Amino acid sequence: MSMVATPAHLLRSATALGNEEVMRIRNDFPILNRSVNGHPLIYLDSGATSQNPLSVLEAEQEFYEQRNSAVHRGAHYLAVEATEAFEDARETVAAFIGADQDELVWTSNATEGLNLISYSFLNASLPGAPAESARFALAAGDEIVVTEMEHHANLIPWQQLAERTGATLKFIPVDDAGALDLDAAARLIGGRTRVLAFTHASNVLGSINPVSALVSLARAAGALVVLDACQSAPHLALDVKDLDVDFAVFSGHKMLGPTGIGGLYGRSELLNAMPPFLTGGSMITTVTMERAAFLPSPQRFEAGTQKISQAVALAAAANYLSETGLSRIHAWESELGRRLVEGLEAIPGVRVLGPAAGRERIGLAAFDVAGVHAHDVGQFLDSRGIAVRVGHHCAQPLHRRLGLTASTRASTYLYNTTDDVDAFLDAVAGVRGYFQA
Ligand SMILES: Cc1ncc(COP(=O)(O)O)c(C=O)c1O
Repeated sequence: MSMVATPAHLLRSATALGNEEVMRIRNDFPILNRSVNGHPLIYLDSGATSQNPLSVLEAEQEFYEQRNSAVHRGAHYLAVEATEAFEDARETVAAFIGADQDELVWTSNATEGLNLISYSFLNASLPGAPAESARFALAAGDEIVVTEMEHHANLIPWQQLAERTGATLKFIPVDDAGALDLDAAARLIGGRTRVLAFTHASNVLGSINPVSALVSLARAAGALVVLDACQSAPHLALDVKDLDVDFAVFSGHKMLGPTGIGGLYGRSELLNAMPPFLTGGSMITTVTMERAAFLPSPQRFEAGTQKISQAVALAAAANYLSETGLSRIHAWESELGRRLVEGLEAIPGVRVLGPAAGRERIGLAAFDVAGVHAHDVGQFLDSRGIAVRVGHHCAQPLHRRLGLTASTRASTYLYNTTDDVDAFLDAVAGVRGYFQA
């Protein structure tokens, strides 16, 4: 019952999807037929959470109707089928990001993946930690480097780790155009750096960070590299081995999958040397009243009953994306992104955050409308059936750096048409007039 599709990174067609194909794709997404506030829904909030195709909804339902059972435990028929489905899903999703099966740990989301790494490093830093985990231990004098554009999920766990171990947290600044200052990065990353954690694509700026330049700096310093692939895994053909990172995290709900599941990739030799984060059932070899010995990765990090139906559904999502072709999706979203940015830049009083039109970005754009609070912009758009995200998008330091407290963000995915973008631009053009700003 293997469901392994061709890994995304092997599908290299660069031809963008077009409106006609997108109209066919939209038929797979029942929610896109909804109306909101008397208007057909225009969903431009996939950066927050994406919608689910029928194949994903059906995979989850089929699991509950036919196979529902605990995995890795029972000796009965359903338990065997459920375990097969769960592990097949792992194989599919691991292949989707270019990883081996034992290198993919299921988590609830990217946030949990990042906490898993940082708590494991904290456990490695405690007195009495196993000798094999010494390479993950941090102490005063060690440094963790992040960037100023991180989502709070890739900032606060490192702040906490630094605070508890005495390590110092440093950050690579962002310039006025929202790009990382690579000269500063070269100065910051050095002999004391133990961890470099950064986002692949910014959830606010839409920019795609230069992974190989940053990985080279980290390698030269002997630091571990943690990649937040939350905004890249859904939109770019990802190969964690090619990227040469040590860890990567992503969330299923941003890549057509259900909520409640995400993934952590880690190099197998690292995962197998790291102390567990959560402990309990299903992650042990032997237990006495005094001690326990732990299974290798990935079970080592999967304590308790797992997200089984969600894993199965996430594999269906990965298959849907692979079959459509990640490079075609990215090419289409780049077109939509360019249209968004050019259109927004042409509206008086609108300031687009991140790379200017024509520079590479994922298909999202956050912006500020002079004199109108982002929440008002969002409500105005919602009254026309247009769903966007407003606020600081869990990136307060970045907004502060850009002189803002909040912004409005439109984010596209493979089911958005150029008509969606045009209707959105038309609505934004009316915002300042409506609020007399
Ligand atoms: C770049 C980035 N990292 C991490 C996260 C956290 O994702 P989740 O809330 O699914 O854990 C998000 C979600 O918006 C994100 O955009």
